[in-house]
Amino acid sequence: MLELVNVIKKFNISGNKEDERTALDHVSLQVKPGEFVTIIGGNGSGKSTTLNIVSGSLIPDSGKVLLNGFDITKMSEYERAGYFGRVFQDPMVGTAANMSVYENLEIAYARGRTHKPWKWGFSSSHKKFFIDELKRFDLGLEDRLNQKVGVMSGGQRQALTLLMATIRQRPSERVIKRDYVRFCETDKLKAKEEVEQGFLLAKKERKNALTALKTESLNKEERKERITKINREYDSKISKFDLTKQILLLDEHTAALDPKTARKVLELTNKTVRENHMTTLMVTHNMKDALTYGDRLIMFHLGHIILDVSGKEKDKLSVEDLLKMFEDADKKAEQ
Ligand SMILES: Nc1ncnc2c1ncn2[C@@H]1O[C@H](COP(=O)(O)OP(=O)(O)O)[C@@H](O)[C@H]1O
Ligand SMILES: [Mg+2]
Repeated sequence: MLELVNVIKKFNISGNKEDERTALDHVSLQVKPGEFVTIIGGNGSGKSTTLNIVSGSLIPDSGKVLLNGFDITKMSEYERAGYFGRVFQDPMVGTAANMSVYENLEIAYARGRTHKPWKWGFSSSHKKFFIDELKRFDLGLEDRLNQKVGVMSGGQRQALTLLMATIRQRPSERVIKRDYVRFCETDKLKAKEEVEQGFLLAKKERKNALTALKTESLNKEERKERITKINREYDSKISKFDLTKQILLLDEHTAALDPKTARKVLELTNKTVRENHMTTLMVTHNMKDALTYGDRLIMFHLGHIILDVSGKEKDKLSVEDLLKMFEDADKKAEQ
């Protein structure tokens, strides 16, 4: 679980007391593993500051940031890099323009490593892994592995940044099980039972799917494709238990793209988040997107969280409701 506890962050550029701005005013927030949170709020309401505090780009004046129960408040951004994947608004920021798609992915993959020691090298097995991952994105990027990122479109760069933010070496079954029990917030025995059952079920389902495949008449290519799909489904089921994977931080990452490309990148985001059961904080100024995507919606206003809804309560909300809440909050602040 990711937690902010009573976080205060003030900015003061001039040093004069009257110029002081409170970006976050006692913000507390708990995000459960696998939860997809959308964040809205007016300009300067504290959305980016929140993401910066989580990632370690900013250190709070007071309050804490906890990850799986560990206090990471003072940990540097560099040290935290493996815990978080970020995509910013500007497509130029997330990728290195003068490097190829492949080189960018290698760097991201090395950074996102968790448990196994990493040996730098251009092994063919990575290449295959990257190609498989890029294929899922369905943007033709798998054929452009050696192309320099600088010549690619904004949408392609954002898609690549998204992949870089989420790619990682999966820990072994033993490590996933161990960490699931270690970082569970509830009963350890129950967690152990849960993860054991989860693996058993996923394996059983994979076995059944592979057995069923044998009776089908498919050519070699088709069979290979189906096996890949079955393995992906297995991976997706298992990833639910993988509590040490990156947390995804998205700050208006589609705002600089044309509407059609923005839609595509957003769909890709949703697919990636859901398939990998990723804990995600997505800042957007598009209220419709904030309602459509995610499990939970948070609204910021002047450094406070003024709305935090999930499930049916969120489903019931309309853009009009959100606009009304903004207006009411503004009115109240003026009084
Ligand atoms: N680096 C900074 N220096 C000075 N003021 C800042 C800085 N970052 C943010 N702020 C101020 O903090 C407040 C919240 O900003 P931010 O979190 O970026 O808002 P949002 O992302 O919701 O638009 C704003 O008043 C903004 O001007
Ligand atoms: Mg912002």
